[in-house]
Amino acid sequence: MSLKSVACIEDLRRLAHRRVPRDFMGYYESGSYSESTLAANLADLARINIRQRVLAGAANRNQHQTVLGISQPLPLALAPVGMSGMAYGDGEIAAASAAEKAGIPYTLSTLSICSIEDVANAVSKPFWFQLYFMKDRGFVADLIARARAANCSALVLTVDLQVLGQRHRDVRNGLTVPPRVHLSTIAHILSKPSWVMSVLMGKRKTFGNVAGRIPGTENLASYMDWIGSQFDQALSWDDVAWVREQWPGKLIIKGIMDVEDARLAAKSGATAIVVSNHGGRQLDGAVSSISMLPRIVDAVGAETEILFDGGIRSGQDVFRALALGAKACLLGRAYLYGLGAAGEAGVSKAIDLIAKELDVTMALAGVRTIDQITRERLET
Ligand code: GLV
Repeated sequence: MSLKSVACIEDLRRLAHRRVPRDFMGYYESGSYSESTLAANLADLARINIRQRVLAGAANRNQHQTVLGISQPLPLALAPVGMSGMAYGDGEIAAASAAEKAGIPYTLSTLSICSIEDVANAVSKPFWFQLYFMKDRGFVADLIARARAANCSALVLTVDLQVLGQRHRDVRNGLTVPPRVHLSTIAHILSKPSWVMSVLMGKRKTFGNVAGRIPGTENLASYMDWIGSQFDQALSWDDVAWVREQWPGKLIIKGIMDVEDARLAAKSGATAIVVSNHGGRQLDGAVSSISMLPRIVDAVGAETEILFDGGIRSGQDVFRALALGAKACLLGRAYLYGLGAAGEAGVSKAIDLIAKELDVTMALAGVRTIDQITRERLET
């Protein structure tokens, strides 16, 4: 199947599975433990019905939305995804370039393969930088300073990974970064020649932002140990105030799933929050992020901007989340599949598919602009 005959995100997912070795696809696809929250993210979105409206004069539609004070052509952003550069060589640059061409923000993960500077040197528009808070405050301050020097336009502080939710497949696969070929996997890796070529040609084979900081970075088990030793379980809102001092720019707090936490986030002066359960990768047993969205919007929507992620695989899903009050949706796996399938062209394809689906959905629901997508557009 070529990109031309790709009809939907699921097609990109299948292509990515064909091209990328299964250990890495396992990392991207997994949820934590029983994966019930991962499944709920998808199922709860699918259950939301959109009202069909006809003869509503829905010509001349546009999807412009203002996100963090900046007008952009689509109500989308690319979410931070760790190890994107293992789906495709220089994957972070490919995704950032596709986002730039679409006019939407790209978020670089702390745990990326390309470094902040690699991406900044390759694109011309500012991107967002996602920060994990570590015990080594000097290192955190240094990462923030690097993001500032790279002209990043927002800092996305992820607050839901104080410990790592176990993903069973990663334990079983013994995933390593850089990839180490074992006798048992050699035939499998050799059956992915285009992946081998692109990753071999990539700038880096390990975590670009933290290289040299993680003892024995090369191995996912030691990465987990490092998270165990460096990710700070004692984090509190005082630490958010500390980040605020280091970063006077736009601050997005990602990983809010509770009304009380949303209130505290709004009080902390965050420019925006992301209602997110980390794609079902952290607290297994948490509710879907879409089921929390309306409650959080009702509580703090007037005080802070609300972004959403968790299970978005189509333009219809974007419509559902916008109708429930999100300003924009972050795409995670949806674009990662495109990246794994075909690099930058695949990410562009993913964005384009979702934008086209949203456009058709708007037409059939009788709306012309994003601000007309309100709760009244859903069947209750
Ligand atoms: C890190 O963000 C992960 O979900 O593995």
